[in-house]
Amino acid sequence: MARKIYIFDTTLRDGEQAPRCSMNLAEKLEVARQLEKLGVDIMEAGFPAASPGDAAAVREIARTVKNVRVVALARALEKDIDTAWEAIRKAESPRIHTFIATSPIHMEYKLRMAPEQVIEAAAAAVRYAKHYCSDVEFSAEDASRSEPDFLCRIFSAAIDAGATVINIPDTVGYAIPEEFARLVAHIKANTPNIDRAMISVHCHNDLGLAVANSLAALRAGANQVECTVNGLGERAGNAALEEIVMALRTRRDFFDLATGLDTAQIFSTSRLVSKVTGVSVQINKAIVGENAFAHEAGIHQHGVLANRQTYEIMTPESIGLPQNSLVLGKHSGRHAFEERLKYLGFALDSARIDELFAQFKILADKKKTVTDRDIEALARGASGTIPETYKLERFAVQSGTQLAATCTIRLARKDGSVYEKAAVGDGPVDAAFKAIDEIVGRTLELEDFRLSSVTSGEDAQGEATVKVKFEGRTWNGHGVSTDILEASIKAYLAAINTMEWEMAVYE
Ligand code: KIV
Ligand code: ZN
Repeated sequence: MARKIYIFDTTLRDGEQAPRCSMNLAEKLEVARQLEKLGVDIMEAGFPAASPGDAAAVREIARTVKNVRVVALARALEKDIDTAWEAIRKAESPRIHTFIATSPIHMEYKLRMAPEQVIEAAAAAVRYAKHYCSDVEFSAEDASRSEPDFLCRIFSAAIDAGATVINIPDTVGYAIPEEFARLVAHIKANTPNIDRAMISVHCHNDLGLAVANSLAALRAGANQVECTVNGLGERAGNAALEEIVMALRTRRDFFDLATGLDTAQIFSTSRLVSKVTGVSVQINKAIVGENAFAHEAGIHQHGVLANRQTYEIMTPESIGLPQNSLVLGKHSGRHAFEERLKYLGFALDSARIDELFAQFKILADKKKTVTDRDIEALARGASGTIPETYKLERFAVQSGTQLAATCTIRLARKDGSVYEKAAVGDGPVDAAFKAIDEIVGRTLELEDFRLSSVTSGEDAQGEATVKVKFEGRTWNGHGVSTDILEASIKAYLAAINTMEWEMAVYE
């Protein structure tokens, strides 16, 4: 029987903490629900002491997800631990995760504490957390650059104080697989009470070794691994969840380790995280990159046609990759469309399927071929669970080389009122966004704007992603259309609708 490995996802904490990866509350909830569907064992929902917004998001996630342990991070400080507990207390299975740095350089220059004081602070933090919560994880930040015997002493003190999990982070991505495995084995062999706690590892990717280090540590005896979807995270990121899970699954013969994940949810989870953060997945990224299952060279295609295993070590179906095939056309009915959405992993209510079906029909009229990727983009690009305060009725644009761009937009508000405004801008997209700002009565700062095509070909759909800032907070929006200006307008409106909804519900 293979040894069970617990997957601790930290996309919503270490991933979200990275520059340009921030998510708003609605997006965090959407990702949390998807992570639950993927079957992660533990989900680090955030760092509540970092800001009131972080605390509110952790609180909502703790109330929402049921079949997963929810973790809140806290420094080894009573005030952080109070805030962390306040945020996760309603979770079905809460865990407090407290940490302090243990490397000589961090203790001397960052903490300005002597090693003995650090041990005392770690034990005190675990003891304090323990009177709130039975499940407490302790992390020795920068463990890979710490003295191995000092780590054994601090972990032993943390376990005596009640820690149920001890975590060994390679905080700065400095470790090498053989060396990191030796460190884990050393801690396992020399921490006297280690049998009372689970051993966890948490690797960063500064040298591109985060996944290799995590796998080496699991072989050496760790039984929890901390990772993020698409490898998001501080600097070069954290170990990529999808790579660890698929390595363990594909090379079960070598590792003899098992996770409880539904790997068929990997692709949708990756796309969702990419959509909400606006961070695209590198084309040749292992497992979830666009080329990961593409066979271009003739000799490879020939081999795959004869027997897929000639060049495929895992199947696209095993990660839930939709086949990019012609599936539906303009004569397809609503039933076939609904079945296809289900196949692609979208469980939607009838009203939303009607709305998407109408969009599909328009698309099928414009495009020669409608693929699974197009349908997926439609389903992800439309309004989703956020109510539409503003809906696009129509737009008209005038622009040219010698002409200032002008855009006229007509929007319907959810109370039934209709507004029309025109604005001049630096190009048609700028003019459109300015006209929307006038209607909405807010001046938004455009932090990021990207356009990509969903499939190839001249009739491909364009997918727009925007990030807008208002009063210090940011919101993302996505839109899809065969017309790139329409996709951009829809993306801008999606960001505004999320902002309006959050402001109305949570403030
Ligand atoms: O990288 C790190 O050391 C961390 C800890 C807080 C676990 O993220
Ligand atoms: Zn980290």
